[in-house]
Parts: sequence; C-alpha cells; structure tokens
Amino acid sequence: MARYYSIPSNLTTIKFCLLFPLLVGMVSAQLSSDFYATSCPNALSTIKSAVESAVSSEARMGASLLRLHFHDCFVNGCDASVLLDDTTTGQGEKNATPNASLRGFEVIDTIKSKLENLCPGVVSCADILAVVARDSVVALSAPIWSWPVDLGRRDSITASSAAVNSNIPSPTLDLSGLINAFSYKGFTAKEMVALSGSHTIGQATCGNFRTRIYNETNIDSSYATSLKSNCPSTGGDSNLAPLDVTSPTSFDTAYYTNLINKKGLLHSDQQLFSGGSTDSIVTNYSNNVGALITDFANAMVKMGRLSPLTGTSGQIRKNCRKAN
Ligand code: HEM
Repeated sequence: MARYYSIPSNLTTIKFCLLFPLLVGMVSAQLSSDFYATSCPNALSTIKSAVESAVSSEARMGASLLRLHFHDCFVNGCDASVLLDDTTTGQGEKNATPNASLRGFEVIDTIKSKLENLCPGVVSCADILAVVARDSVVALSAPIWSWPVDLGRRDSITASSAAVNSNIPSPTLDLSGLINAFSYKGFTAKEMVALSGSHTIGQATCGNFRTRIYNETNIDSSYATSLKSNCPSTGGDSNLAPLDVTSPTSFDTAYYTNLINKKGLLHSDQQLFSGGSTDSIVTNYSNNVGALITDFANAMVKMGRLSPLTGTSGQIRKNCRKAN
C-alpha cells in the first residue's frame, strides 16, 4: 500500500519539477532580447549612440540614467511610470520626495523621438529605460560589463506617488532595513550588495549625507572633513559630492574598497560594511571584479523583470511623459 501511494506522490513531484520551470519561464517568456529584431532592427544601435553622446557630454548622465531604471522598476514594476509628468488629476512619481533629484528625462525624450521617427509606436519607454541603464554602465566601464537586456515591456498609463515613498529605500536605513526593502522585491542580501555597486558612479546631495559626515563615527575623519567644506551643517542641501570618492565616473569595484576604508558617502552605503552579515560580500567584490561583473549583470536582468506589462496590458506611449 505504501508503494501504491508513493506513486502518485512521486508523479506529483515529477510534474511539479517539470511544470515549475515552465511556469517561471512563462513570466519571462514574453520578454526576449530580440523583441525588436524585425519590428525595429535599429532600435538598440540608436539608443546606444544616444547614450554614448549624452555620457560624453556629461559623464554623470550615465549615473542618472541608471538610477532612473532602478526607480522605475522598484515602484510597481518596470513600466516607465517614473517618466509620467504630473496630471491635473494627480501627482506622478517624478516629484515624490525620493525622486526629487532624478535627472535624465530629456535624454529619454530625445531617444524616444528618434525611435518614433524610426519605428512609430513600437519601442516602449520602459524598454528604453532598461537598455539605457545597460548602455550607461558600458559607456562608463568596458564591454565586459554588458548584459543582454530582455525586451517587450509595455508602458503604464498611471503613476503612483504614494508607491514611491513605500518602495524606494531611504539612505537612512540600517542594514536590516536595506535587506528587507530588497527582499520585498525578491532580492537576496548578496544581490542587494551587488546592485548597490551602482554607487560607484554619480553624485548625492548634501541633505542626504549631512548627518553621516557630522554625526557618525564609522567614517574616515579626513574624508568627513573634506566633505564638510561643501556641505555645511546648515544650508547647501543640494550641494553635490561623488558617491565614489576614488573614481566617480568609472564603473568599477572602488565603491566597495571605499566602504572597507570607511569612505561610504551615504549612511546606507556604509551599512553594507559595518560589522554585519554583508561585510564578506563587500570584501569579495572589492577583490574580485569578475564576481561583481557576473553578479551585477544577473541582478540587473532580474531587476528588469520586475512586474513588466506585456501582451495587451498597458500601451506603447508615443511621448514618455504622458499616456496616449
Ligand atoms: C541600496 C539602497 C539604495 C539607496 C538607499 C539609494 C539611495 C540613493 C541616494 C540617496 C542617492 C543620491 C540622491 C541625491 O542626493 O540626489 C542615490 C544616487 C544614485 N543611486 Fe542609489 N540607492 C540605492 C540603491 C541603488 C540601486 C540599486 C541603483 C541602481 C541599480 C542605484 C543607483 C544610483 C545612482 C547611479 C545614483 C547617482 C545618480 C546621479 O548622479 O544622478 N541606487 N541613491
């Protein structure tokens, strides 16, 4: 009898083992890296050259464009909701407090109008954000940092300012808060540390690091002193400092080495190396560029798969700032 009952149970297990990857596959099956191969074959090269041109005019733009994709995907999925302007009926996402310093919207507009001329109504704003993020990283590093971008996302017609506040992690979070914020989106602590490597480029405003440089003790004292000259104890909230003091416009491992040297700019950055469970991950990435390249690329692909609109959901916006 025991054997009899074990047969259906084994079959169930086998069926589950066969079906589970298929079900998971179905979620991403609608996205594919060759989605525009026939409908807009020059889409990717058009985006790449526009990103290269924007980054060569201003290196920081690569950082700003990468951040846009993160802030899009973490708020109701990668649906370009972050790009929608406020409407008469409600505040969009871009003016919510955690998004106040987002930039790069004009670069996306330029790319979108090029693509609308090339293939009207075909390439979504959400896909543009995903490709632009990858091309920005490559423009500030080397082709070895590249990854294949899944495509086929569609654009939302609504944005949620409230969802920004609840989904974008704050720089005041401690390690457990950071781990929770990413775990809520399905990421491990290791993936969170890899994605945080994005802070190897770009800048932050004084209002976001003042408390750290004046009040915290796990900071290199000469580093803190040098930051105070441009970030007074009151005023100057929007003055800038590089997130990676060593090589602010190169996508590399220096961010992690800085953390080991107590030169993380944000409280949340230094939390990744503060005697807790992620110290060893930071040490590994600081010594092992190959591990970071692989883990960062995989985590970016995973981030790009957060709740995309596919099939007939959403729309392909003609103008990334407003629904059709
Ligand atoms: C781990 C949690 C994270 C927190 C708490 C955080 C917080 C911040 C803050 C406060 C700033 C500076 C904003 C300002 O003062 O103007 C910033 C900048 C930036 N963040 Fe994050 N971030 C996190 C993760 C990420 C991730 C996952 C990415 C990308 C995948 C990313 C990419 C960037 C980039 C590139 C910049 C510089 C943008 C520019 O110069 O315009 N961040 N982040």
